Amino acid sequence: MEEILQDVERAKSLDELEALRVRYLGRQGWLTQELRRLGELPMEERRLRGQELNRLKAELERALTARAAQLKQQALEERLNRERLDVSLPGYALPRGGLHPITLMLRELLAIFQSMGYRPVQGPELEREFFNFDAVNMPPWHPARDMQDTFWVRQEGEVAEERFPGPLGDYLLRTHTSPMQIRYMLAHTPPFKIVVPGRVFRYEQTDASHEAMFFQLEGLVVGEGISMADLKGAIYELARSLFGAEARARFHPTYFPFVEPGAQFALWWPERQKWLELGGSGMVHPKLFEIVDAYRVQLGLPPAYQGLSGFAFGMGVDRLALLRYGVPDIRYFYQQPRLSFLKQFRG
Ligand code: DAH
Repeated sequence: MEEILQDVERAKSLDELEALRVRYLGRQGWLTQELRRLGELPMEERRLRGQELNRLKAELERALTARAAQLKQQALEERLNRERLDVSLPGYALPRGGLHPITLMLRELLAIFQSMGYRPVQGPELEREFFNFDAVNMPPWHPARDMQDTFWVRQEGEVAEERFPGPLGDYLLRTHTSPMQIRYMLAHTPPFKIVVPGRVFRYEQTDASHEAMFFQLEGLVVGEGISMADLKGAIYELARSLFGAEARARFHPTYFPFVEPGAQFALWWPERQKWLELGGSGMVHPKLFEIVDAYRVQLGLPPAYQGLSGFAFGMGVDRLALLRYGVPDIRYFYQQPRLSFLKQFRG
């Protein structure tokens, strides 16, 4: 028995231990066989032998369990010594979010205009017919209304609280940022320079260059003696800020109901040797000043726009971003989820 116990203590692995257990305690094991043979012994001998065998069995089991625990502990210690944790290794990089390309474009544009002294302001996306159309010189019969297919919004109960009283017509999703010209002029006295970034909506079939929702940046400058030269100066400065000293701008006469004269403008991108048609502009139509002053009087405010002049412009932010970043399809900006596309832009 001493020898057996020594074997157990010297066992070098759990496998070796298991082999010993099988050899003595297994079904065909020596102790098991001996216990089975007890029945053949005479009564007195059987009792003594039984006691002895059971003692041996208990002792052997205890030794096996103890050695197994020892071996496991050893293995653990070895592993702990072997596997060192280098806490100075760099950790896993967490995925970092980025700014949407339209946000990047808007921020760049706003920074440019802010450096020229423009104040950024925002207006409501849920607009009233009066501000979106009538007040910018597009009365209901005006053919230019057809150019901006409109999402009309049915009013059920109270909608947003309107700060300006009066018959303002139906609700709609603004088709351009120009209505903010009127809202701003009603509530502020000139001179001022503002830019209005924001979403606009058109009830349109979408394709690579048309979305039903996109972004515009509107500009409005009003003061004494503001002229077309100031408008050109602002757009030239925009061109240079975006595309460097070599950049230029050009204007073509066009009709917009809210400006006279009106002009569409394009920026020259020297790096790509390309003209980018970006938007419309012009001198604020005197009709707008008349409408605003008449409304101000109704509100109990003094008229503020007599004898003044101003210029305005409106440009497509998505269009500029498409060309600038070489994106082939405007829908990439808004389809979800297109992380592989968006991840190319970091900000
Ligand atoms: N509101 C026009 C549009 O969405 C763009 C525009 C043209 C804005 C001329 C202006 C402007 O302020 O002067 O098509």
